[in-house]
Amino acid sequence: MSSVIHTRIAGTGKYRADGVLTNHDLEKMVDTNDTWIRERTGIRERRIALPGVYTSTMASAALKEALDAAGMQPGALDMIICGTVTPDMPLPATAAFVQRQIGASGNCPSFDISAACAGFIYGLSIADAFIRTGKIRTAAVIGTEMLTRFMDFEDRNTCVLFGDGAGAVVVTADHDGRGILSTHLFTDGSLTDILQIPGGGSKEPASAETVAQKRHCIQMEGREVFKVAVRYLSEAAETALSTNGKKPEDVQLVAAHQANMRILSAVSKRVSIPIERFALNLESYGNTSSASIPISLDEAVRAGRVNDNDLVLMIALGGGISWGSALIRW
Ligand code: UT7
Repeated sequence: MSSVIHTRIAGTGKYRADGVLTNHDLEKMVDTNDTWIRERTGIRERRIALPGVYTSTMASAALKEALDAAGMQPGALDMIICGTVTPDMPLPATAAFVQRQIGASGNCPSFDISAACAGFIYGLSIADAFIRTGKIRTAAVIGTEMLTRFMDFEDRNTCVLFGDGAGAVVVTADHDGRGILSTHLFTDGSLTDILQIPGGGSKEPASAETVAQKRHCIQMEGREVFKVAVRYLSEAAETALSTNGKKPEDVQLVAAHQANMRILSAVSKRVSIPIERFALNLESYGNTSSASIPISLDEAVRAGRVNDNDLVLMIALGGGISWGSALIRW
């Protein structure tokens, strides 16, 4: 056993929202069609949270599963981090609600990270830094997102893309050399305009006018995001591998943020990792933003696709534009 601390994923969990919105349902709502959505995005249906379910309740359900998988009690958590841009409310943090809902210790710092679809990797990187420096031993990292409540269901450019859900991991200090090998985080603030929820903040405080203009709904210049996504996700994957002296063929599983099948196919080709190694669920979940990586990771783990010592690569990109990667020795 080495004295070097690594951050190991001890358990994973997810919340699968109960409602389903199919492409055929959307055909009745906006000028779109199943063929366009499937061919341009890879999405067939998306999950929608039912009334009475919030971002925090999804997160708590996912975290409970992750704690069970890790064989731990909520009291073991030293920190709770929620990656979300769709919090229960602007104040307080969604993570504070999660702390209460799962019955974690009142001394456990609990906060949200706003890095859009990259929020889970950002949270993982922060937890890793606290754990490797010995400040804490165990943390919960959650991606939880309810973008359908920030959606203009008359805007076909966005409403066909997103779904609700949450995924969680419990990470803990370990000494056997396995765990997170590296994380890399990036932001290009010159691209803040291409993916936004412009209303409801200090720049455009909520008013009857902002609501009437649907400024509280997500807006995206899809084509622009697409271009940078392929480039930056590929570069982040290559950085993760080269930093650790690994080759594409060393990677057993890629848990990538799932926004568009064409993005994932392009990244797969560019980084020379076959698409069969990607954990995919975009077809039935839609784009669940920060939740997409932990949900797909949890599904892969429960399907027995991840074995001890496998190399798992995570890559994500979202509004900011913020993106990043993590390489993990499972
Ligand atoms: O999760 C955060 C990161 N987000 C992403 O990575 C998303 C990146 N972007 C994308 O995935 C794609 O750009 C979209 C799926 C959003 C759009 O696909 P696209 O191939 O880039 O389409 P486009 O925006 O270039 O639009 C092509 C055509 C347009 O019609 P015209 O101008 O060629 O006549 C659109 O109006 O498709 C039209 N269109 C639609 N047609 C049917 C746009 N949305 C729809 C729709 N149904 N829902």
